[in-house]
Amino acid sequence: MKHIDIKKLLTDAESYVDTSVTVCGWVRTARNSKSVSFIELNDGTCLNNIQLVIDKNELEVNKNAFNVGAALKAVGSFVRSERNGFEIQIQAIEVLGNCPSDFPLQKKRHTVEFLRTIPHLRVRTRYFEALFAVRDQLSYAVHDYFHKNGYKYVHTPIITGSDCEGAGEMFRVTTQPWDAKAENGSAYPNEESYFKDDFFGTKAGLTVSAQLEGEMAAMGLGRIYTFGPTFRAEHSNTTRHAAEFWQVEPEVCFADIDDIIEIGEDFIKSIIRDVMEHCPDEIQFFNQWVDKGLTEKLNLVLESDFGRMTYTEAVEILQKSGKEFQYPVEWGCDLQTEHEKYLTEEYLKKPVFVVDYPADIKAFYMKQNPDGKTVAATDLLVPGIGEIIGCSEREADMEKLVAAMEKRGMPLEEYQAYLDTRKYGSVPHSGFGLGFDRMLMYLTGVSNIRDTLLFPRTVGNLS
Ligand code: 4AD
Ligand code: MG
Repeated sequence: MKHIDIKKLLTDAESYVDTSVTVCGWVRTARNSKSVSFIELNDGTCLNNIQLVIDKNELEVNKNAFNVGAALKAVGSFVRSERNGFEIQIQAIEVLGNCPSDFPLQKKRHTVEFLRTIPHLRVRTRYFEALFAVRDQLSYAVHDYFHKNGYKYVHTPIITGSDCEGAGEMFRVTTQPWDAKAENGSAYPNEESYFKDDFFGTKAGLTVSAQLEGEMAAMGLGRIYTFGPTFRAEHSNTTRHAAEFWQVEPEVCFADIDDIIEIGEDFIKSIIRDVMEHCPDEIQFFNQWVDKGLTEKLNLVLESDFGRMTYTEAVEILQKSGKEFQYPVEWGCDLQTEHEKYLTEEYLKKPVFVVDYPADIKAFYMKQNPDGKTVAATDLLVPGIGEIIGCSEREADMEKLVAAMEKRGMPLEEYQAYLDTRKYGSVPHSGFGLGFDRMLMYLTGVSNIRDTLLFPRTVGNLS
């Protein structure tokens, strides 16, 4: 179907003036006066609509063309207009798909809560059109950054046998029927025999992080990154947890914790800059409708150095804050969102890397510090969200790594391939995981992760 994108039409407007053009799209609004009708048409290529002008004395139009949500193909003359910049004076309109009046997205503005109940339709609103344009550009910016810096993009498996974070939040992958029974008719006597009969002959699940496979790839390729879906069966029903989210995970050989922090800051600034440059209309939209201080905040992030403090300092700051936290703070506790928010929003008012967490609250693979208590791990906390990046130097020493795994009661035999990386030519290396959807929240000011995903999957919701 030969037609011109509305984005192209408006970007190269001068070259189309006074020519005949064909556009396709959906009716956003329509109004009628005595002799003229107006239709605002949007085709998803940009936030702006194009106005179609119909001279009722000249042209009789199918009345369905004025239904909000209807899909049209329109042909007309592209002209300058005093009020709108440009418009199309219509010669012919074809209704490609009618839209009856029970279409839920009629003119008035809707709440995001309502829109969440119709994820299949909400993408037809300006809000979600802007959101998905930024999501697309942000993805591109991620690839661009790593590609330019010599990282290889690797595709790690989604089905895996190892729980990287060790938090027991893996979704199980199985083809066993719900009432699977052993051949003699009795239930399986134990877990092992049940999984032996399963598709892979062993227990399998959806990946909670691509890190372990990423580390193995980096051991030959030097610098890699992964960018894919990640699954966690967390029962946290919060505004920043999804059961299926996207993670960006670089892994860098010959890099210590300071190197990876430097890379993390450079990466975050680079992708923000890229999106601000390529999606000015969308960022402006969010600045106007979602977070009035957004542009200012993002510019400030680009100009300032991220803060840095140790976990021990963070605990002291929180204890001296005089704040009544729901979860009391003491050395050794995991920092909760309320603590993270205080540190980054009220105390420093900018992104901050908190380093050297207690080993006991972090994963097995992190490099053990000489103090015997903490690990070379850091979380990047940002205002409005809290943790956005989880990062660490990896324990490269086989003995120390095995000791950490044994302490956590991990089955070593299931991690033989991973352990081989420490056996054969182990090197200092570091990496991080950026929560992509949280990054999108940060960039747009959108306050619920459910509004950054096309079809959000959260506990109790698969709609
Ligand atoms: O801190 P996490 O658990 O770190 C890892 O998975 C490491 N293996 C990463 C690495 O070093 N390669 O998760 C990384 C980030 C978090 O900082 C957060 O932004 C995001 O992933 N994240 C979630 N985002 C949305 N919903 C959830 N349920 C999330 N859990 C983690
Ligand atoms: Mg984390």
